[in-house]
Amino acid sequence: MNLHKMLCATAVFAVTLSSMACSQKSSTVDRIVTEVPERPAGQEDMVAFAAEPIDTVRVGFIGLGMRGPGAVKRFTKIPGTKVVALCDLDSANVNNAQRILSDAGLPEAAAYSGDKDAWKKLVERDDINLVYIVTDWETHAPMAIYAMEQGKHAAVEVPAAMTLEEIWDIINTSERTRKHCMMLENCVYDFFEMNTLNMAQQGLFGELLHAEGSYIHNLQDFWGEYWNNWRLDYNRRHRGDVYATHGLGPACQLLDIHRGDRMTTLVAMDTDPITGPELVEKYTGEKCDSFANGDHTMTMIRTANGKTIHIQHDVMNPRPYSRMYQITGTKGFANKYPIKQYAFEPEQLSTDSMPDHENLNAHKAISKHQREALEEKYMHPIIREVGEYAKSVGGHGGMDYIMDYRLVYCLRNGLPLDMDVYDLAEWSSMAPLTRLSIENGSVPVEVPDFTRGAWNKVKGYRHAYKPE
Ligand SMILES: NC(=O)c1ccc[n+]([C@@H]2O[C@H](COP(=O)([O-])OP(=O)(O)OC[C@H]3O[C@@H](n4cnc5c(N)ncnc54)[C@H](O)[C@@H]3O)[C@@H](O)[C@H]2O)c1
Repeated sequence: MNLHKMLCATAVFAVTLSSMACSQKSSTVDRIVTEVPERPAGQEDMVAFAAEPIDTVRVGFIGLGMRGPGAVKRFTKIPGTKVVALCDLDSANVNNAQRILSDAGLPEAAAYSGDKDAWKKLVERDDINLVYIVTDWETHAPMAIYAMEQGKHAAVEVPAAMTLEEIWDIINTSERTRKHCMMLENCVYDFFEMNTLNMAQQGLFGELLHAEGSYIHNLQDFWGEYWNNWRLDYNRRHRGDVYATHGLGPACQLLDIHRGDRMTTLVAMDTDPITGPELVEKYTGEKCDSFANGDHTMTMIRTANGKTIHIQHDVMNPRPYSRMYQITGTKGFANKYPIKQYAFEPEQLSTDSMPDHENLNAHKAISKHQREALEEKYMHPIIREVGEYAKSVGGHGGMDYIMDYRLVYCLRNGLPLDMDVYDLAEWSSMAPLTRLSIENGSVPVEVPDFTRGAWNKVKGYRHAYKPE
């Protein structure tokens, strides 16, 4: 096609598009704003909340499938803790976890199983102060809420809540009962993420502009193992980024979300579900005529201070694992997948006197040797303190241990937790908010201010430490 014909064709296409847009305008939603329930009278926000110090963190675990036993094991290695009670629907899972305790030379814990409400008895015990929840997604919120109502702090696996109603219920319960509700987001404790956060906080990247994160993990080895097929079933029934917290958590800590900035708007888009229905047929033997979750979901978020975040989700296709961790600042850049890289302004200046378009490596990352020296110099104090021990305990290379260690450290020292109930709310809200955007033609959706006005009280995200 010559240039004249191409322009004509484009013009016709443009006219068709604009007339379509006009004819549909009356039925199009411009922006979705969800309701922010008023804070009930007598309640205060939980920003920087610290509870009374706890001498011994006495914990009850609910959910001992694939993920739960690792948490029990980690707690056997954290000083100042006692595993008091264990619960799973399946008594065999409870017995397996009991063996972890006996192997560690610890006494048996009280056991609860066999009934879908047996966990309530665990929560009602008067000798625990922390309920640690590792069940499927749809049981998280009711368990956490009941735990707080029974006077316990709650720690909940990711995502901690799946609907906006659940999220607001968790916030209101936490504010009313003055109990912590922390989401167990482990990826903020990975070594590269922690060290990079430290570098960002020391100003190495200048002003941060843009962050990326994702959960790209082909779950083919796991689909057949989930209790009651809960995960595939959830994806079958729900569109949107249903598992955004691993990517979003580190991005939000870098960008000081609800510590001086806040996410305001998101837009999400997905592909058709192609592998999803095949997985249903493979694992259930059923013909699958409807599958909601797109194989690949993308979300773009803008903040009040004009920063952007890009999040992705794909758990079904043959891609190498990636949490897409990336940060762009005015003076530097960091990237983790597929290779760890840092780039900074002085090193990016080409030595050539003339710019050379053929040299695609003109603006390059610092060398591996320089990166390692930088990581040593800017090692996060928490990694310096427990990093080596965490690696020896394990759990995703040590980050799971650091997460539990920090939870216990803050509880025992009466400090604000590293992740508060509003982090839980913001990171978990991606599931319902991205669904709203996608189901309405990728329309912008407002991210509610879950702090209800307290997002600017604390300036800058920082971990808390006991006074020297
Ligand atoms: N942070 C991470 O890196 C990470 C990794 C894996 C899983 N997870 C999260 O951990 C949670 C559990 O995942 P999983 O892979 O262990 O799933 P799973 O299916 O292996 O285990 C879930 C367990 O919950 C139990 N359960 C369900 N309902 C219950 C009830 N009413 N009372 C008592 N027990 C009940 C089941 O019997 C099962 O043993 C999920 O939220 C998941 O997203 C997080």
